[in-house]
Amino acid sequence: MSKVVVMDHPLIKHKIGLIRRKTTGTNEFRRIISEIAELICYEATRDLELQDVEIETPITKTVVQELKGRKLCVVPILRAGLGMVDGMLELIPAAKVGHIGLYRDPETLKPVEYYCKLPADVTEREIFVVDPMLATGGSSAAAIQMLKDKGCKHIHFMCIIAAPEGIKAVQEAHPDIDIFIGTVDEKLNENGYIVPGLGDAGDRIFGTK
Ligand code: PRP
Ligand code: URA
Repeated sequence: MSKVVVMDHPLIKHKIGLIRRKTTGTNEFRRIISEIAELICYEATRDLELQDVEIETPITKTVVQELKGRKLCVVPILRAGLGMVDGMLELIPAAKVGHIGLYRDPETLKPVEYYCKLPADVTEREIFVVDPMLATGGSSAAAIQMLKDKGCKHIHFMCIIAAPEGIKAVQEAHPDIDIFIGTVDEKLNENGYIVPGLGDAGDRIFGTK
C-alpha cells in the first residue's frame, strides 16, 4: 500500500520558511534545499529493511543491525533536483546517482525529456526520485514512468513543496509510489507556479535569471 507523507517537523517548517523569502540569496537557498533534502531523506528511508549481523566491539561480541537487501539510487530531475542530491548523499553516501533531464514547456506546461543516464543495475536498486517542486505533477510523473519503462520497480518520490494538483496527478498516474513531501501549498497559479511557493527553484538554486 503506497503512502503520501507530509513532513511534520519544526526544522523542516523553519527552513521552508527561509527559502520562500524572495530576499534569500543563491548561496543560502542552495544550502537550505540540501539540508531539507537530508531531513526528508531521514523519513523516506524509514522502511528500509535491516538484518542482524554479529560483530566484535573492542569489549565483546554482539549483534548489530545493518541495511539489508537492495542498494540505493538517487535520481534527481534536472535541473532543480540536483540541489537535493548532496543532502541525500550525506545520509546514504553509498547510493549511486542517476540523472533524468526534463524541463517544463512554458506554454503547454508539459515535460520535455532531454537527458537520461542511470546506473547499469538501476532496476535492482531502491530508487529515490528527487525534485524540490511538484507543481502540475507532469515532470515527476514522467520521470517515474521513464524509470518504470526501464524496469525499475522500487521507486519513491521526494519533493519539498507540492501543490495539491500535483500530488493528485502523481497518485493517479502512479498509485504504487510512496511520496514524501516537505509541505503542501495552496494551489497553482495561471502560469503553473505554486502559490505561495518559492518561485522557480532551478533559477534560485543556480542563480540564473
Ligand atoms: C521545475 C521543477 C520541476 C517542475 C515541476 O523544473 O524543478 O521539475 O518544474 O513542475 P511540474 O510538476 O508542473 O512538472 P523546470 O521545468 O522549471 O526545469 P529546471 O529545473 O531546469 O529549472
Ligand atoms: N517549478 C518551479 O520551480 N516552481 C514552481 O512554482 C512550479 C514549477
